[in-house]
Amino acid sequence: MILITITIIKDNFMFKLFIIINSLFMLLGSSFAIANELNIYSYRKPFLLKPFLDEYSKKTNIKFNVLHLKKGMAQRLLSEGKNTKADIILTVDISRITELKDYDLLKSINSKVINNNVPDHLVDSDNKWVALSTRARIIGVSKSRVNKDEIKRIEDLANPQFKNKICTRKGSHPYNRALLSSIISHNGYEKALTWAKGLVNNFARKPQGNDRAQAKAIFSGECDIVLMNTYYFGLMKFNTKNPEQQKWADATDIIFFNQNDRGQHINVSAGAISKHSKNSKESLKFLEWLTSEKAQKIYSEINYEYPVNKNIKPSGKITIWGSFKSDEINITTISKNAPKAQEIIDKVGW
Ligand SMILES: [Fe+2]
Repeated sequence: MILITITIIKDNFMFKLFIIINSLFMLLGSSFAIANELNIYSYRKPFLLKPFLDEYSKKTNIKFNVLHLKKGMAQRLLSEGKNTKADIILTVDISRITELKDYDLLKSINSKVINNNVPDHLVDSDNKWVALSTRARIIGVSKSRVNKDEIKRIEDLANPQFKNKICTRKGSHPYNRALLSSIISHNGYEKALTWAKGLVNNFARKPQGNDRAQAKAIFSGECDIVLMNTYYFGLMKFNTKNPEQQKWADATDIIFFNQNDRGQHINVSAGAISKHSKNSKESLKFLEWLTSEKAQKIYSEINYEYPVNKNIKPSGKITIWGSFKSDEINITTISKNAPKAQEIIDKVGW
């Protein structure tokens, strides 16, 4: 009997000890679970990312480790598998973010904040990523040699009246491929193919250079009509390091196309959470903050991009070249047509 009582007391003591130790571990565990460092894999350039990270670190004390990549993010995440350190993924262009989704490298995002801030067509249909800024791929024309009123729609660029006048970078560049994907989405494959043939027939030179090189060619007189993302226009127009580029922008007028029908084609920069992130809660908070007013204004201040937050109007320098109606086709639909767009690009030799 005595022996049994002692055992019970002893057991009770052990149980209490177990509870205390367990609670201590839980306490320590929960403090470790609150991330104070987040790891970002980014296709966005360092100077475009730093202002956001500085601002968020100031607010939250969270530190960021950033791996900047120019290509191969999907391959890297695939090879790292469950051991990846990646929490947050930041990309530019529709195709680069959808590639990560297609390889099942992203975690679902469920956020009331994001759903309140960002319209549906700028959020992945399976909630795997969210657009954080938009950029319009516009038609740039020579101020002195082109009558702006002659071009209203992107479809107009296939008209024979523009023979030997048009210049672009290579068709297979993601920006051009996304534009063509949007044309397939709206007009169908056959019409998009006919359009691309007409466009190529109007080229003044073989596709080459980047977007800024097209504006330079307008300035030099080699080309009259080009395709360009709006932020490059801003980066040239206000470029104090290379004032030469201000002349390229000043020689160029912007046309927002399809304003009387479906609206101007836009592309996006996007954010997502890595499938194997151990800090998804904190990562989501950061993505939510990127859609907030404060962060949305930074996008336009540092890189002349447009807000995705439906409650925020574009402000500052980006308003200089006017406002526009944007095409609200779902970004996911555009990305699905990218392989067909590439097929057309190869067929017509863009
Ligand atoms: Fe770019």
